[in-house]
Amino acid sequence: MEGKKPSDTSIHDHTYRIFPNDLNAQGTVFGGLIMAEADRLAHIVAERHSGRICVTASVDSILFHAPAGHGDNLIFKTSINRSWNTSMEVGVKIMAEERTTMNRKHIVSAYLTFVALDDHGKPAKVPPVLPVSEIEKRRFEEADLRRSNRISYKKELSSRRKL
Ligand SMILES: CC(C)(COP(=O)(O)OP(=O)(O)OC[C@H]1O[C@@H](n2cnc3c(N)ncnc32)[C@H](O)[C@@H]1OP(=O)(O)O)[C@@H](O)C(=O)NCCC(=O)NCCS
Repeated sequence: MEGKKPSDTSIHDHTYRIFPNDLNAQGTVFGGLIMAEADRLAHIVAERHSGRICVTASVDSILFHAPAGHGDNLIFKTSINRSWNTSMEVGVKIMAEERTTMNRKHIVSAYLTFVALDDHGKPAKVPPVLPVSEIEKRRFEEADLRRSNRISYKKELSSRRKL
């Protein structure tokens, strides 16, 4: 199966305009909106990479480093980090951009795992990721560590629930 580079499928600077109905009682952006948008974009990248319908298998813990507010636009950068047999890790970096000065601050990072499905809804093989830049190579290596953690966490959870 022919590999694809992260840049073949990534999404740069997807921009979301914040309106008052996107804010919580604190006047900052509702976290669920950010998570939903991240899932949608990462899903697009996984389907571009695999050429198949994908489902979200898991989302790693999401850290909100800083808030975004009414005067900001949200900027999403989304790219695939690594693929394995049928699964893929997609990273999303989200920034708040002050809308007149264009000053950006990093507010959230998230890693999502997708599984590609065949025509019968069963997991299907996906192409390898071919990292090119230094940062893509670093993300590629680190993704394997995160996958090991996910697999051992899932195993641990299912063995405890069987007890
Ligand atoms: C995701 C799903 C297809 C995995 O099915 P499964 O029967 O557990 O499949 P397998 O055990 O054969 O695992 C298939 C792949 O998923 C990965 N996977 C399964 N659970 C995972 C998890 N919690 N986190 C990360 N990867 C996971 C496996 O590591 C494997 O990857 P690999 O083939 O690259 O090694 C299935 O659990 C599912 O359909 N879940 C619901 C998905 C959904 O509805 N999402 C929300 C709407 S899009």
